[in-house]
Amino acid sequence: MYLSLNEASILLKQGEVVALPTETVYGVAASIHHPKAIQRIFDLKNRPSNNPLIVHIASFEQLYPLVSSLPPKSEQLARAFWPGPLTLIFPIQSQSLNPIITAGLITAAFRMPCHSLTQQVIQQVGPLVMPSANLSGRPSSTSPQHVEEDFGPSFPILDGGDCKQGVESTILCYYRDRWKIARAGALPPEAFLPLLGYSPSFLIKNKEEAPLCPGQHYRHYAPHCYLILTMNFIEESDGLILGFSDREYPSNYTIWHFGDSSHPETALQQLYRLLRQLDREKIKEAYVDVRFPEEGLWLTLKERLQRAAQK
Ligand code: TXA
Ligand code: MG
Repeated sequence: MYLSLNEASILLKQGEVVALPTETVYGVAASIHHPKAIQRIFDLKNRPSNNPLIVHIASFEQLYPLVSSLPPKSEQLARAFWPGPLTLIFPIQSQSLNPIITAGLITAAFRMPCHSLTQQVIQQVGPLVMPSANLSGRPSSTSPQHVEEDFGPSFPILDGGDCKQGVESTILCYYRDRWKIARAGALPPEAFLPLLGYSPSFLIKNKEEAPLCPGQHYRHYAPHCYLILTMNFIEESDGLILGFSDREYPSNYTIWHFGDSSHPETALQQLYRLLRQLDREKIKEAYVDVRFPEEGLWLTLKERLQRAAQK
């Protein structure tokens, strides 16, 4: 069910859950002041309760009352990349956020999304929690049709067209005197070099650091289709390949394209659409061409594909 901007704001103020567009992926939103609506998001998505949510804001005025002391360069990062696909983990003022949002952590994740419709909704309603609009573990939604696929045609959606980036925000957290990447996303590590003086490294998932990004421990982004990530395609065989339009593949295969092999942004933009299409067409098995560099946004594509291929 498609809503107008005002209908979306009214429903959210009344404590309902609504799907909203962002530049990264569609989200299912609830006001931070409506714990029952927030609980409904966990139920709808079948999301584990120890996986905290991102708080979405439309201005710095909405941020300041929620956070306590900010790590070095926080404001510079926020001013450089917001509104946009960056999520920052900040320590919070005690009691400023319901523990259902933070899974009881003393920090919370914050992001100012870059989509004019959703910015207006957040201005009208106040801060919103908004996980990606997909059933937990499944590919995220990059169009209103994807949201309907997961939550049904009567689910309230504010239609903002196809998502520009098509992949989630990059999450940064401050740990042991450095900013680290807690989740690869739409901004590559090098994007932060000019501002920080270094490219943040990825948080290593050992036991000690595990609580820093709880969501990263669950299975994610996965279609039912079995994905085989490969660099070699056997001439005599056949099947479906998710590949690149400027590459040659053996003639027996059907090819679905990520775009050409010099544009990781395009590949990321197509990723969830292709993964969902595999399931819609009931394809049981597909090969994925992973011959790409270990740098920049290719790292995000690789991380998503590796998780999507986990069984
Ligand atoms: O692009 C995005 O970020 C999208 C759009 C809708 O804004 N949202 C999104 O939300 O990807 P979600 O819920 O699918 O992912 C949130 C991630 C999870 O991996 C969660 O563990 C992490 O953020 N997170 C939330 N709070 C955290 C915290 N205090 N510390 C570390 N990680 C946190
Ligand atoms: Mg998600």
